[in-house]
Amino acid sequence: MVNEAKLEINEATTLPALQETRVKYLGKKGWLTAELKTLGNLTPDERKIKGAALNIVKTELEAMFDAREAALNAAALEAKLSGEALDVTLPGTKFQAGGLHLLTRIIDDLAVIYKSMGYQVVQGQEVETELYNFDALNIPAWHPARDLWDTFWLTDGRVLRTHTSPMQARYMQAFAPPFKIVVPGKVFRFEAVDATHESMFHQLEGLAVAPGITMADLKGTLEEMAKGLFGERAKIRFQPSYYPFTEPSADFAVYWENPRTGTAKWLELGGSGMVHPRVFEEVCKLRGDEVYAGARGFAFGLGIERIAMIKYGVPDIRYFFQNDLRVLKQFRGALE
Ligand code: DAH
Repeated sequence: MVNEAKLEINEATTLPALQETRVKYLGKKGWLTAELKTLGNLTPDERKIKGAALNIVKTELEAMFDAREAALNAAALEAKLSGEALDVTLPGTKFQAGGLHLLTRIIDDLAVIYKSMGYQVVQGQEVETELYNFDALNIPAWHPARDLWDTFWLTDGRVLRTHTSPMQARYMQAFAPPFKIVVPGKVFRFEAVDATHESMFHQLEGLAVAPGITMADLKGTLEEMAKGLFGERAKIRFQPSYYPFTEPSADFAVYWENPRTGTAKWLELGGSGMVHPRVFEEVCKLRGDEVYAGARGFAFGLGIERIAMIKYGVPDIRYFFQNDLRVLKQFRGALE
């Protein structure tokens, strides 16, 4: 029995198993207690011998139990420590640094350029009413821009704004002149999507209202922007055009030399013009006062994606919105 006990002690690999073995041999109802109880049936001499022997066994077993317990405790501690050990020679977990989207960078760049000219950057809303998207901008009901095929209409009669221009009326309704603002943001059109058309894209709207302001101010402003975007040698060219909310209206193109290809060309960027008197009249109606009666101002609107595509050689507008990191990563540092 004693040898069995010793064997079991050495084979106990966990503290609970060892404790079970201890109870089995040394517990109140265990083997040793049972053996001690038999002493009463023995002769005094036998009792003396067996009693002494049992005492030795008891001491021996207790020592073995204690030693095994200490060993198991040490092993558990060792396992815990080595599990938690910090191996400073292992390579670290690489931190995945994010970056701003190329379009965000261009919008930021434009904001810096316009702020340097005293413009305020404001944002409009992407879901608009017909009033601000069309009527207040002198876009009559028959105008093709209102066509079902150009505009996303919501079931409640509102629209996803087709341009950033609605903010012209909203801003003037809320604030008195003089002021200069730019409005960057998303716009939505029902388009046949291809390499140069998306149903969602970005524009930057500009509006400056002040006494005596002219088309020359407009041109100087756009030229300043062109130089900020494309370098000191960039120029602006106007071409007669038509927009319901400007009169006269002009499309504008930027002349710039592409350092990547070594070529120079004109890039059509957007529309512009002097704010149409009817827009000021609509604003007077919205405000219920005459603050904008006979006001003067210029406005312009341009496409952000176009700038990015031409300046950085992105061949397809859809690349901006497919979340393909192979594309996006190339431009992480584009404007730094
Ligand atoms: N809203 C026009 C468009 O989306 C762009 C535009 C043209 C804006 C002329 C203007 C402007 O402010 O004066 O096509």
